[in-house]
Amino acid sequence: MRFTNSLIGMINFLTFLLSIPILGGGIWLSSKANTTDCMRFLQWPLIIIGISIMVVSLAGFAGACYRNTSLLWFYLVAMFCIIAALIGFIIFAYGVTDKGSGRSVLNRGYLDYYLSDYSGWLKDRVDQDSYWSKISSCIRDSHVCANMGLEINGVPESADMFYYRNLSPIQSGCCKPPTECGYVYVNETVWNQGGGLMDSDPDCLKWSNDQTQLCYYCDSCKAGVLASLKKSWRKVSVINIVVLILLVIVYVVAYAAFKNNKRYDNDEPYGSARMTKAQPSSLHF
Ligand SMILES: *[C@@H]1O[C@H](CO)[C@@H](O)[C@H](O)[C@H]1NC(C)=O
Repeated sequence: MRFTNSLIGMINFLTFLLSIPILGGGIWLSSKANTTDCMRFLQWPLIIIGISIMVVSLAGFAGACYRNTSLLWFYLVAMFCIIAALIGFIIFAYGVTDKGSGRSVLNRGYLDYYLSDYSGWLKDRVDQDSYWSKISSCIRDSHVCANMGLEINGVPESADMFYYRNLSPIQSGCCKPPTECGYVYVNETVWNQGGGLMDSDPDCLKWSNDQTQLCYYCDSCKAGVLASLKKSWRKVSVINIVVLILLVIVYVVAYAAFKNNKRYDNDEPYGSARMTKAQPSSLHF
């Protein structure tokens, strides 16, 4: 029995379908306002991998339809590179977001974020002034803090209601001072200095009620960005791992089909009777 080009065509159609969730993951990352939107360079690898899979499987599809061996060779080599790139990306995504999470605070529904809890390549990037000035101004422009205000029946929420809210890492890190500083709640983005001694955390001095400043230059904001990236990257990585496994299976089948066709083309004992009237080898692959 011989693998036919229609099987190869089907396989390519499957890989084409597999490129959609990858591309979707990249687009989902870029469509998520605030964080990832402010670090666009991070979702490009994913979008490039998704588009590559699409293009390569279309090439394989065409190769199978038009029985073009060189296109199918291109498919096998290119798909191998893409699988390697995808593995690299998954390792990278887990590596850069390996350590760190928010700290829970007594009597608060939200977590506080500390830059010292994080480490690695991504932390170093975020910590660099040249990167951070871009990211922080992007967060400011996203109005994530301005949109935090909550009214219940036309009345602004009370401090107690705010304390039990579940804030996103960016909201917690960038839009309010760290809890340990002891600031007194006025509204979501206005906090007055309490009477007591300030904590030694430098973030406490960086907090400003100026609505264009807030805690955008706090370390807690950087940590919030890292925490937010970690969340969304972990979700995307799950999709990537599933796609990777399916892609490897499809690749192995495609490779076996390719090998099998070549064997039938080249080995006399298997198909000598049929080989006598075989078409030119370019018609097979
Ligand atoms: C908090 O109050 C300030 C000053 O009145 C205002 O500019 C800001 O929009 C308010 N913050 C929110 C989140 O509503």
